[in-house]
Amino acid sequence: MQFSEKIKGLEESITLAITAKAKLLKEQGVRVISFSAGEPDFDTPQVVKSAAIKAINDGCGKYTPVSGTTEVLKAICTKLKKDHNLDYETSEVIANVGAKHSLFNAIQALVCDGDEVIIPAPYWVTYPEQVKYSGGVPVIVTPKKDFKISADELKAAITPKTKILILNNPSNPSGALYSKDELMALAKVLEGTSIVVLADEMYEKLVYDGEFVAFASLSEDALKRTVTINGLSKCAAMPGYRFGYSASKNKELNKLMKNLQGQCTSNICSITQAAAVPALVGEIDKDIEMMKKEFKKRRDKACEMINSINGLKLSVKPSGAFYLFIDCSSVNPDDVEFCAKLLDDKKVACVPGSGFGMSGYFRISYATSMENIIEGIEKIAEFVKEYK
Ligand SMILES: Cc1ncc(COP(=O)(O)O)c(C=O)c1O
Repeated sequence: MQFSEKIKGLEESITLAITAKAKLLKEQGVRVISFSAGEPDFDTPQVVKSAAIKAINDGCGKYTPVSGTTEVLKAICTKLKKDHNLDYETSEVIANVGAKHSLFNAIQALVCDGDEVIIPAPYWVTYPEQVKYSGGVPVIVTPKKDFKISADELKAAITPKTKILILNNPSNPSGALYSKDELMALAKVLEGTSIVVLADEMYEKLVYDGEFVAFASLSEDALKRTVTINGLSKCAAMPGYRFGYSASKNKELNKLMKNLQGQCTSNICSITQAAAVPALVGEIDKDIEMMKKEFKKRRDKACEMINSINGLKLSVKPSGAFYLFIDCSSVNPDDVEFCAKLLDDKKVACVPGSGFGMSGYFRISYATSMENIIEGIEKIAEFVKEYK
């Protein structure tokens, strides 16, 4: 059997692979502390569950329009207005099967063979794979400072072939948060170009220091060039519901993305759409506050513990998301080996930084209980101390 060269070029998601390995060990009865999860450990808010159950009981099992029901599209517009004072029409937003799918549709619709896509490292694992699949060329830029691309670094990476900048704020895996001034400086570099910004703002509500600013809200120019990508997996603890969305002012792009979706998935799950409405319009704000408070406590504890381990370095305290991106290069610059040994010796699962485009680092997700965080980082400390 012959297979598609395009698909054969895709890498397995390293985060999903490590999570699966840790799960397998657990199924074999081994006690594993997993820091690999990219999902909140909190249950989905009750109001969301009730909306899903009601939708089922109300018989909402039919196809919906491709981009979503009027209710969910209006709810996305309400969210963007409420949180960022952004005005979008329902025709300018599309509901997708998670933000991964929103990104996929946008990249497929925008990228022609050989187009360059600027991706600051460390990056979320999926970006380069989706770009390669579209025929584009990922241009990885490793920022010198604080895991954030500067205006000068962006300027230096732009060529006549540059099509897109993917900007993930706050970042998975580093937790870095761009200030308004930093975003403005990037937006200024893009003025006068036709470069599109894919603003992946999945973790916007999980910010512990500083203030989140949506890229599209920076200026009229930024609004026109931005495709906002967002979803409910992280901030609303709904990863399994698979709800993401895109928002763009570009009519042609929206049409192409809808056509692609129409030929691939049709509409997204009708029950998920109904469940997303209360989450988008603000009915779970209290639940989000509760999760954020707990994440902040865990982040502070985890940072304090990692900082006290001789050999590991947390160069920047993460301001958002639920990850720490830790430098292990003075213990072992081979982060894949470091993580594999850590899992074998101490049964602690972490994700190697090279999957995120930065070797010599590893990622911890603190979307797990405080007990696990304390026990797991104590084991990491022992591991580092004993490392040969
Ligand atoms: C930065 C970032 N963007 C997008 C996603 C996709 O999330 P989902 O497809 O669950 O909405 C993730 C998930 O890990 C992520 O970390």
